Amino acid sequence: MTELKVLIPREKIAQRVAEMGADINRDYAGQSVILLGVLKGAAIFLSDLSRELRIDSTFDFIGVSSYGNRPTPAQELKSGWDSTGEVRLTKDMDQSMIGKNVILVEDILDTGLTLTYLKKLLMARQPKSLRIAALLDKPSRRKQPIQADYVGFSIPDEFVVGYGLDYAEKYRNLPDICIVPREG
Ligand code: PRP
Repeated sequence: MTELKVLIPREKIAQRVAEMGADINRDYAGQSVILLGVLKGAAIFLSDLSRELRIDSTFDFIGVSSYGNRPTPAQELKSGWDSTGEVRLTKDMDQSMIGKNVILVEDILDTGLTLTYLKKLLMARQPKSLRIAALLDKPSRRKQPIQADYVGFSIPDEFVVGYGLDYAEKYRNLPDICIVPREG
């Protein structure tokens, strides 16, 4: 594989995550929130975002798996992949969300199929409020009209890795967000 190109360096990520945390602190002043990370990509973003919060907060995770035949990593890199959007919970959250403020935390909002499905599923559990924080947003790929309430960076349709995002499970640990070149 050709070399990765840095798209968003770690300093810019840290600065933007701090700003997002400040927005959440302001919006939920005097209240408590549950940060609900979607495994696995959101784990690193959630760990940094949670440390920016000064309000009463806890965090939890859910795991999802998309139905449909996922292509090989090489095919996904070349042509992308749109799941059916129907997801199966592989790990449910540990606590009840009835009457709670919940912020769904995602690494990337792409077609919007996953979050549209998840939002509907979670709204049925009667939270007090449900918002979405996405570090990255690819609006050009959207298939469902869903928006995040807190967005870190709007990015072009490039295959990105690092800071939780993977290519065939690799690169999640990179501190910067990088582009995997599609050609080569
Ligand atoms: C990614 C990402 C979102 C979803 C977004 O997860 O974390 O959950 O895809 O795509 P969508 O808007 O097109 O539905 P992925 O399935 O790659 O799993 P991972 O988080 O374990 O890497």
